[in-house]
Amino acid sequence: MPLSDFKSALVTGASSGIGRAVVKELTNANITTYALARRHDLLQTLQDETGCIPIALDLRDRSEIDAKLTGLEVDILINNAGHGRSEGPLHSADTEAIYDMVQTNVSASLHLVRTIAPNMVSQKWGHIVMIGSVSGLHPIKQSVYGATKGAIHMLCQNLRIELLGTGIRVTEICPGRVNTDFFKTAFGDKKSKELLDRFETLEPNDISNTIMHALDAPKRVNITTVELTGTAQAVGGLQTGDAENAYI
Ligand SMILES: NC(=O)c1ccc[n+]([C@@H]2O[C@H](COP(=O)([O-])OP(=O)(O)OC[C@H]3O[C@@H](n4cnc5c(N)ncnc54)[C@H](OP(=O)(O)O)[C@@H]3O)[C@@H](O)[C@H]2O)c1
Repeated sequence: MPLSDFKSALVTGASSGIGRAVVKELTNANITTYALARRHDLLQTLQDETGCIPIALDLRDRSEIDAKLTGLEVDILINNAGHGRSEGPLHSADTEAIYDMVQTNVSASLHLVRTIAPNMVSQKWGHIVMIGSVSGLHPIKQSVYGATKGAIHMLCQNLRIELLGTGIRVTEICPGRVNTDFFKTAFGDKKSKELLDRFETLEPNDISNTIMHALDAPKRVNITTVELTGTAQAVGGLQTGDAENAYI
């Protein structure tokens, strides 16, 4: 669908990082953009910069999704909100962190599609973009985060079948490491800096550019899955070690 055909979008996780970059691109393209996150002050700043429409909402709360998003009619859903939490191996992971990641990364994604897609189905077109991760496609020693992003991968695969014939496209974007607050939220300032300084990572606008390319593809084309990493990053390898050294 050429970009000019899209009139409106909802971007979750818009207060920082990738979501913020996507809001900037969509509003630049004259698409009315609803920007959703919990931190209202950051959304307010983004509104001043871009003219987006803020929606302050905690996606872990299904009743808030129902109350604030039911009936919202948009052509594009960018399901981007999500986070990792320092987890360590699953057998010693913090139970609250597990619950939080599943609620934010998986349950909210399902409820969002359930809430937003009916309008797309009735208008017989739309584009759903899900931010997955290389962690959803490959093992990187993060059982919980990887499981949540693996769920996003399978959600996208199934949605494409369920939505066949509706004209709705589903794109999954699977980034490697991106220079955002993700690591600060997950690991704190010190470790975040170490992780981001180690090599040249992707930047948020590398992801937003890719999303815009997928949106702008001709109507006949559905860019289904995009995996992108920094040039200085590769996923894979065979690991060895004992339990003491198993988690880095
Ligand atoms: N950075 C990476 O290396 C990387 C790699 C692969 C995939 N990803 C994925 O990319 C997506 C965006 O992350 P990012 O890298 O841009 O990190 P980020 O800068 O930390 O952004 C995360 C966004 O999610 C929002 N969010 C988190 N919990 C929420 C909740 N309960 N309700 C509403 N909004 C919530 C945050 O806003 P508030 O705190 O204001 O609510 C924030 O806007 C995530 O799904 C992440 O898993 C990131």
